[in-house]
Amino acid sequence: MKYTHIAGTGGFLPEKVLTNHQLEEMVDTSDEWILERTGISKRHIAEDGQTTCDLAEQAARRAMEAAGKGSYDIDLVIVATTTPDQVFPSTACLLQQRLGIHGCAAFDIQAVCTGFIYALGVADNFIRAGSARCALVVGAETLSRIVDWSDRDTCVLFGDGAGAVVVEASDEPGIISTRLHADGEYESLLRVPGGISKGFDKEAGMGAFVEMRGNEVFKMAVTTLGRIVDETLGHNGIGKSDVDWLIPHQANIRIIKATARKLRMPMDHVVVTVDEHGNTSAASVPLALDTAVRDGRIKRGETLLMEAFGGGFTWGSVLLKY
Ligand code: ACO
Repeated sequence: MKYTHIAGTGGFLPEKVLTNHQLEEMVDTSDEWILERTGISKRHIAEDGQTTCDLAEQAARRAMEAAGKGSYDIDLVIVATTTPDQVFPSTACLLQQRLGIHGCAAFDIQAVCTGFIYALGVADNFIRAGSARCALVVGAETLSRIVDWSDRDTCVLFGDGAGAVVVEASDEPGIISTRLHADGEYESLLRVPGGISKGFDKEAGMGAFVEMRGNEVFKMAVTTLGRIVDETLGHNGIGKSDVDWLIPHQANIRIIKATARKLRMPMDHVVVTVDEHGNTSAASVPLALDTAVRDGRIKRGETLLMEAFGGGFTWGSVLLKY
């Protein structure tokens, strides 16, 4: 039996930081409100001219170094992003060029905050089918470019960043299962309604920035993430106590705590980074994973449950032995 094993992780946050106190100068909000409702204290923002591919490159280089892999080892590149550098080529192709990787398949995946989970699910299928042996999987975003910085309902939530893993074929257990879902019926609750094909015209309902019905998204996220945890454990015939670490999408500390409660997982076994960088969409799960791997909390052989929920709606999980 061939497994997909995580060989190395990497993460990168742009240098520029935007604190809650700085946001108080921009919109009618307060550090106290943001911390209490979201758990976020700051977010990192890409400089003008710093793109998603720039962030992805740094995270990818760190993951490749941790895995001990060079550009010649990689035979699949997948980038999960909602904020690609340009219409085409894909950010994965741009990244391939930066890293000197030639000839292998490279493509982007767009599943918003669930993007990295989708990308890892696709890479796992490529590897188990024998179509790839060593894949670079990246979640990278410059969400700040699609946020209306005068809208207090949304601008306090998001930030920029990138996280990456190198995964390879192995006989030792790695990814145990991936569960991916979507339901486009909920499109109107969370979206950027404008786009390349429709055009951008806010007055005509085709704005270029994130629009969100926060309360409804919150309730759906809590319910759905609870369900995906049950589904994942049930599908694999394992119990809640078998999971060593929960690595949730970092959107809101209250959503994270609600899912942890459902798992009866003490918070010291839940990786939380949302306070440090807000919601970085597709980058949030790999950033959290990389943080806990590098600080020594996550150890080889432990069982990890990653989950995410985002626009679409999309949602999913990856259960793995690290
Ligand atoms: N500062 C101060 N007050 C604010 C702010 C702000 N930044 N934003 C909204 N408020 C006000 C509202 O206007 C409202 O005022 P009112 O009572 O006078 O009408 C009050 O605060 C309460 O607003 P609610 O929307 O009810 O606040 P809630 O407790 O639901 O928190 C939040 C809002 C944080 C957006 C929450 O709904 C949430 O996290 N939703 C999920 C959103 C999310 O994470 N989206 C990301 C993509 S999906 C995902 O990643 C899971």
